Amino acid sequence: MSEKTVVLTDAASNRSTALPVVTGTLGDPAFDIGKLNKDTGYFTYDPGFMSTAATKSAVTFIDGDQGILLYRGYPIEQLAKHSNFLEVAYLLINGELPKADEFAKFDHEVTHHTMMRESLKNFFQGFHYDAHPMAMCMAAVGSLAAFYHDSLDINDPAQRKLAAIRLIAKMPTIAAAAYRYSIGWPIRYPRNNLEYCSRFLHMMFEVPSEPLQISPVAAKALDLLFILHADHEQNASTSTVRLVGSTGANPYACVAAGIAALWGPAHGGANEAVLKMLAEIGDAKNVSKAVERAKDKNSGFRLMGFGHRVYKNFDPRATIIREMCHKVLGELGVNDPLLDVAMELEQAALKDSYFVERKLYPNVDFYSGIIYKALGIPTEMFTVMFAIARTAGWVAHWLEQHETLDAKIGRPRQIYIGAPNRDYVDPAKR
Ligand code: ACO
Repeated sequence: MSEKTVVLTDAASNRSTALPVVTGTLGDPAFDIGKLNKDTGYFTYDPGFMSTAATKSAVTFIDGDQGILLYRGYPIEQLAKHSNFLEVAYLLINGELPKADEFAKFDHEVTHHTMMRESLKNFFQGFHYDAHPMAMCMAAVGSLAAFYHDSLDINDPAQRKLAAIRLIAKMPTIAAAAYRYSIGWPIRYPRNNLEYCSRFLHMMFEVPSEPLQISPVAAKALDLLFILHADHEQNASTSTVRLVGSTGANPYACVAAGIAALWGPAHGGANEAVLKMLAEIGDAKNVSKAVERAKDKNSGFRLMGFGHRVYKNFDPRATIIREMCHKVLGELGVNDPLLDVAMELEQAALKDSYFVERKLYPNVDFYSGIIYKALGIPTEMFTVMFAIARTAGWVAHWLEQHETLDAKIGRPRQIYIGAPNRDYVDPAKR
């Protein structure tokens, strides 16, 4: 915290307060308004948290104007090039890149917590066959608290760490089970001899009738997508995890809430929405019509995969993913006409003054769906894929929150616009 303060005075009442200026290692400074209401009688109004930091955090930094994304200080481009998802998960949770023995231990722990209890497996039978996999995942993750109630002491750092490992380990198992159930295939057990992404692909696609050859290209592409989606500072789902976490709720309940927040089309549901939109557009020749529709506020239609609350220049993840999309489709020999539609749409929007003026660029989800499709992942699973990756970020933030001594329950204020105080009216007189 700096010594600088800004004094705010209400001329009418002559009440004033000195607001300390809070600065982090990077990013804009902020006013600490904690005493504002007590000193002046005012509080602040900021729908959508456009100018409000809810916490201090050392996990991830974003500079939306410069298109910078750092996990624990490391640029996303370098992690995408040199690291792997599990190492990134370790980094997010622990703050430092692991030494070889630290990584081996972490990998061993995650690998040996991937199984789910048989009774949890049976839960899936209770869902209707066409339930959305996000609904099944959210319920299954929330239910983990019922299986590990002997290790839910959030005041014990060892139990917190164990919960974090369990969540990272079991998310792919739960996600694959939701998919297998929805298509009527037998649920697969995790194979310990495979690494994280290959193990997931095995649980998704292995059939009893023949051995599965897991494509190293597919496993590598998935790993890269997971790195890009692993964390994104105080986004809606992470803020949800932290808000629920601030009440002292158990980690499984917190992450289930995060999954619920991620599901919305304005957030993680966008990758599914992008593919549906591209399929609806159908052909590159229909792109200009779609762009016109997106510009018409009355149409209720937005270009999915375009725009971002924080990135107003470009989304660095989109730059990586765009390049990867072409590479993966080429290496897998997939010729997807939706990629042509996507490229045409991107070009058309980037040239259009509506999108230029509003600084609307393709975000990470614009291309991720096309890659998932090329990997054989069905559209309904796209947001689930996001949830697997983001679990690393969610648990990193949840752990950080519980390591912070002055953490408070999250409780926003409101501007009340309802009826003033009035007397109850007898039913006969209404
Ligand atoms: N298509 C058309 N117009 C858009 C789009 C879009 N995708 N996104 C924003 N706009 C317009 C708005 O209508 C608004 O125009 P106006 O100023 O004339 O009223 C202006 O751009 C600003 O939009 P807001 O909604 O105020 O911007 P906000 O920062 O609140 O929203 C969001 C960001 C939710 C991502 C928005 O751009 C959107 O809905 N995009 C499509 C959904 C999407 O791709 N979501 C994924 C986000 S990334 C992620 O979660 C991984």
